Amino acid sequence: MRMKKNNKTNHMWGGRFNDAPAALLEKLNASIHFDWKLYAQDIRASLAHCEMLAECGIIEKKDATNICQGLKEIADEIANGEFTFSTTLEDIHMNIEARLAEKIGDVAGRLHTARSRNDQVATDMRLYVRDAIDALLNQLKTVMLTLSQKALENADLLMPGFTHLQPAQPITFGHHLLAYVEMFERDRQRFTDCRKRVNVNPLGSAALAGTAFPIDRDMTTNKLGFRTPTRNSIDAVSDRDFVIETIFCCAMTAMHISRFAEEVILWSSQNYGFIRLSDSFSTGSSIMPQKRNPDSAELLRAKTGRIYGSLTTLLTVLKALPLAYFKDMQEDKEACFDALETLSLSLETLNAMIEPIHIHKETIENAANAPFITATDMADWLVRSLKIPFRQAHHITGALVAFAEKKNCQLAELSLHDMQSIHPAITEDIFSVLSVKQSVNSRNVFGGTSPIQVTEAAQFWLNRLNT
Ligand code: ARG
Repeated sequence: MRMKKNNKTNHMWGGRFNDAPAALLEKLNASIHFDWKLYAQDIRASLAHCEMLAECGIIEKKDATNICQGLKEIADEIANGEFTFSTTLEDIHMNIEARLAEKIGDVAGRLHTARSRNDQVATDMRLYVRDAIDALLNQLKTVMLTLSQKALENADLLMPGFTHLQPAQPITFGHHLLAYVEMFERDRQRFTDCRKRVNVNPLGSAALAGTAFPIDRDMTTNKLGFRTPTRNSIDAVSDRDFVIETIFCCAMTAMHISRFAEEVILWSSQNYGFIRLSDSFSTGSSIMPQKRNPDSAELLRAKTGRIYGSLTTLLTVLKALPLAYFKDMQEDKEACFDALETLSLSLETLNAMIEPIHIHKETIENAANAPFITATDMADWLVRSLKIPFRQAHHITGALVAFAEKKNCQLAELSLHDMQSIHPAITEDIFSVLSVKQSVNSRNVFGGTSPIQVTEAAQFWLNRLNT
């Protein structure tokens, strides 16, 4: 990126100043090295503002034509890396305006009629965040499709379901994967809802009090695809809730990614051996040749911390800020950009990492046969067949588990005689509920883990996401 410095007073606001800002202030104050990223949104908003000024008769049509032409050329210059940014000009807004003046002369100065950098930057940020949300929504959908497809393929793959990381009850692998689809769906809903509050138009609020020029706020609202103009000019220039809320949505999504990443790390460890990450998403060790490390999943897990950091930064920057605009608010940008970019990279990596995962089906099914994993099914049988209250059934099953443990066998390997020594009314029929497969098949309630339910749920998601 081309960047120049000079020692003149800032000609955008330097009228009442004799001396140039201290080099240190310039360094502290300049935001161009990060807010240049707003250039496309800044120019989009300026074009809408300029057209509106002309249509309302506030500036001449021919001036507006010149301004718009110049702005479009500047957009190309920046996109092509031909633009020289200046730190003396502080930020993206003044860099673009100064370049416009170089290109078309004094008439460039008419663009800033009925506008302030305060409503300008609020507008740019809203457009930027809105664009970013739309891209993230698409990425979330892609991840959900990938997971749903894998769930469909593994709707009947038996695995141990865990609580406290201890084998709890048998489940299906597809059901486990679809749990993450539910999380990402809630993330999509949160982003979609947040987007409504992002999508309002601050233009026309000017510095903080609105403007005396006869502008048409609905016109810029329509041109920029906003839902409605903001209702209070003071709030409009000082509100960054929409940034914080968006980053909160990012943080929640990242938290979900980190949970999945953690499972990938566990599952690909030798102790579990459930999956094997592809070579392209594993790394080796510089000293131990046998190692295959799940670095991709580890980094996804860690990036979450970085996004939380941005959320904390933004909440803290805005804390106790009186109305209306303060330069503090310039600090929203790096945290915002970083969180959005980090989440986007994480979602892209997550999807690419899941796609080629090799699932060791046999290992997973063997693990599903963990000792006594169908104990709940046994207790349920006592409730259903012998009409024993569940609490008591739980107690009897506990005794049967202890018995099997002593005999070093599975529940299904106890003889009827053994079982009747614990409770005389037990019949042969109890053996029908003790297999892992039967356990999973029996949980055929809506939302349950049976292959029938999981197949339907996966198909539901695939249909919904594809339409
Ligand atoms: N670069 C500034 C920001 O990001 C633009 C607004 C400046 N407004 C002002 N009154 N100094 O917040």
